[in-house]
Amino acid sequence: MAPRAYVQPVVETTTIFNPAIFKGKVLFCTGGGSGICRGMTEAVMRHGADAAIVGRKLDRLTQTSKELEKSTGRKCIPVQADVRDPALLKAAVAKTIETYGRIDYVICGAAGNFLAPISTLSENAFRTVMEIDTIGTFNTVKATLAHVRQAKGSYIHVSATLHYKASPFQVHVSAAKAGVDALSGVLAVEEGPHGVRSNVIAPGPIAGTEGMDRLTPKTPEAQARLDAISPLGRLGAIKDIEHATVFLFSDAAAFITGQVLVVDGGSENLRTVSLPYPQSVLDPESVQKIIKPRL
Ligand code: COA
Repeated sequence: MAPRAYVQPVVETTTIFNPAIFKGKVLFCTGGGSGICRGMTEAVMRHGADAAIVGRKLDRLTQTSKELEKSTGRKCIPVQADVRDPALLKAAVAKTIETYGRIDYVICGAAGNFLAPISTLSENAFRTVMEIDTIGTFNTVKATLAHVRQAKGSYIHVSATLHYKASPFQVHVSAAKAGVDALSGVLAVEEGPHGVRSNVIAPGPIAGTEGMDRLTPKTPEAQARLDAISPLGRLGAIKDIEHATVFLFSDAAAFITGQVLVVDGGSENLRTVSLPYPQSVLDPESVQKIIKPRL
C-alpha cells in the first residue's frame, strides 16, 4: 500500500480564542463524566466557564469533576441524574442554579449505543436508546430552557453521522440521532427570537471513545481500514470536538444557529462500512466474534 502523503496532526491547544471568553458563564452538560462530553466540558472550562456535569454514575462524575477542576482552575459540580427522568433532571438544574445562579450553555450529550440487527434488537432495546438520546435531549432542553433564555445562551447537541445513510445494526441510534437533529432545528427556530441558539455537532469516528470501542470490529483488517477512513488521514480526536464546541458557544458563532457541524475529517464524503457487508447481515452471529463482547 502506498504511504499516505499527509496526515492532519491533532491540534492539542489553540490560541485562537481568548482563554477568558466564557468567564462568568456556566455550562450544564449531560454525559460529561467521560469521553467526548468530558472533553467538551473541559474545553469550555479552559475558556473560563464553571460547569455542572450530569450522568448516572456519581463516583465517575465526582472523580471527573475533581480532575477537571484541577486541569482548568474552574469549578465543576457532579450531579447524578438519568436523562430519561424529567424530575431528576429538573433537580439537577435546581442544584446547578443553587450553586452558580445561572446556566448559559447546555451540552446534550448523554447517549447509549451498541450494535444489533433489527431482527434481534428487542423492542425495549430500541426504546431504551430512543429514551436516552432523543427523549433525554428533550428532557434536558425542557429542564434548562428558562435559564438559557434568561442568559441568551446556547445549546450544543451531540449527534452522529451514521444516520445520513443507512448503517446496518444501528437502527436504534439512527432513529434517535435523526430525532436529535430535528429537535435542534426546531429549538433554533422557536427560541432564536428569545436570543437562544441551538446547534448540533456530529462527530465522525473518534479514537479512544466508548463508542469506537463498542462499534468497530477488533480484527486487524478493520483496524487498518479505520486509519484510512478519513480524507485527512486519521480518526477524529476528542480534541477536534472540543475546538468545535468552543467555536459554537463563542461569539464567533453568534449568527450560527439551527446548523449541524460535522466534525469528521471529511469521512462522511467517503462513506465506508465498518462491518463486512452483506456477510454481517446474513450471519449476524459472525459479528459477535469481531466486536467487543456484550457486558
Ligand atoms: N445488544 C442488544 N441489546 C442490548 C445490548 C446489546 N449489546 N445492550 C443492551 N441491550 C438491550 C437489553 O437487552 C435491554 O433489552 P431487553 O430488556 O429486551 O433485554 C435493553 O437494551 C436495555 O438494556 P439495559 O442494559 O437494561 O439498559 P440500561 O438503561 O441500563 O443501559 C445502555 C442501556 C444503552 C446505555 C447500555 O448499553 C450502556 O450502558 N451502554 C454503555 C454506554 C454507552 O453506550 N455509551 C455511548 C457509546 S456511543
